[in-house]
Amino acid sequence: MDLINSLAGKRLLLGVTGGIAAYKAAEFVRLLMQEGVEVQAVMTESACRFVGVATFQGLTGRKVFTELWDDDNQNGMAHIHLSREVDAIVIAPATADFIAKMAHGLADDLLSTLCLARDCPLLVAPAMNLQMWENSATQRNLATLHQDGVITLGPASGYQACGEIGVGRMLEPEDLLDLTRRFFQPKYLDGKRVLITTGPTFEAIDAVRGLTNRSSGRMGIAIAQAALEAGAQVTLVCGPVCQPLPAVQKCIHVVSADEMFAAVKAETGGSDIFISVAAVADYRPAEHYTSKLKKTSTAITLALIPNPDILQYVAGQPNPPFCVGFAAETDAVEHYAEEKRKRKKLPLIVANNAIEAIGANESALTLIDDEGMHHLPTADKNVQARRVMAHIARLYNVHN
Ligand code: C5P
Repeated sequence: MDLINSLAGKRLLLGVTGGIAAYKAAEFVRLLMQEGVEVQAVMTESACRFVGVATFQGLTGRKVFTELWDDDNQNGMAHIHLSREVDAIVIAPATADFIAKMAHGLADDLLSTLCLARDCPLLVAPAMNLQMWENSATQRNLATLHQDGVITLGPASGYQACGEIGVGRMLEPEDLLDLTRRFFQPKYLDGKRVLITTGPTFEAIDAVRGLTNRSSGRMGIAIAQAALEAGAQVTLVCGPVCQPLPAVQKCIHVVSADEMFAAVKAETGGSDIFISVAAVADYRPAEHYTSKLKKTSTAITLALIPNPDILQYVAGQPNPPFCVGFAAETDAVEHYAEEKRKRKKLPLIVANNAIEAIGANESALTLIDDEGMHHLPTADKNVQARRVMAHIARLYNVHN
C-alpha cells in the first residue's frame, strides 16, 4: 500500500479566485512548498485585485498565469498543458461565482477553461459570505459539482470579513493542507465505521481532585486522522486532552472510565473496527465526595475499585467489531502485550514502551498479531499511525 507521509513530489495547480480569503491562499502555498510540493499558481483577474501576482510568484518560484492570451503559454494552449502537468487542481479560495461557472461548464478565462479541460481531480475550497453560501443557487451548484466528482474542502464557520458570523469562510491553511494530504492517501477503509478511544481518563476523588495519567491522547488522535485519511467514518471517544482534534464525523468528550464505557457501549454496535488507544484508569476511588475534602494532619487511605475493561467487554460481545488494543509497558513490553492480546481475545495489539512513548511526538511500535511481531522503528506518531492503520486494514480485510 502506497502510504503518503508527506506531499513531497506532488504537483498541484493552485487556482486563486477573487475573494478576501485570497490572502490565506498565500500561506497555504507556503505550507505546500514546505512539504516539497511543486505549486503552479493561476489567478483570476479579480483575485489579482486582492493579492498581487508577485506574492504567489515569490512563494512558488514560478511565473503565475492569469490570462488565456499569455505570450509564455505553449502555443496558446495554457488551458491544456497547465492541467496536464499536475496531480490535482485546488481552487482556494473558490468564490460563489467561480463555483457557479464550474457547475455550468463555463470557460471564459484561463482558470475556468483549464478546469473544464482538466484530466485530473479538482478540489475546491469555498469562501463566501454566509448568505451567499446558504443561497439555494449556490447549494444547487455545489450538488452539481459533487455529482461531477469535484471534492469540496470546507467551508468553515466563524467570523467573516463582512462582519457576519456563520458558515462560508475558507478553511485555515493548515486544514487545507491536512485535507489535501488526506485526498492523496489510498482509501483502503472507504466507508468503514471506525470507533477510537483516546486520552487518559480522570477519576474524581472529590470536587477538585482526581486520579489520572500522563497520556496526551496524541497517538489516538493520529490514529483518528489516519483513519479519516483512509476514507473511514470516524467516531472518537476522547478523554480530557489538550490537543487539537481532527474533524472526525463524531466526537464524544468524556472524563471518567465509566463515561468512556457508556459512550463506547452506545457506539460499538454500528462499528466495523474498534481501536482502543485510551489509557483507561484501571481503578477509581470507591467513594466520590461531592465537596472538597478537608486537609488533616494524619495519613489517609484511599480505597480504589477496579474500572470495567472496555476493550475486553467489546471484544467479548457476540459478533464484535475488529478489535485493536494498545499496550504501554515499561518492562518486557512485547511479552506483556502478547499476554493481553490473548486474554482480551484481540486479533491485534500495538505495543510500545510507556516511558519513551507517553507524551512524546515519536514512538517505536511493535504490532503483534496471529502471524507474530512486526516492528515499526521510531518515527513521528502521525507516520506510525498511518502504518498502523494500513496494517489494521490488511488484517480487517482478511478477517471479513
Ligand atoms: O490497561 P491495559 O494495559 O490492559 O490496556 C490494554 C488495552 O486495553 C488498551 O487498548 C486500553 O485502551 C484497553 N483498556 C480498556 N479498559 C480498561 C483498561 C484498558 O479498554 N479499563
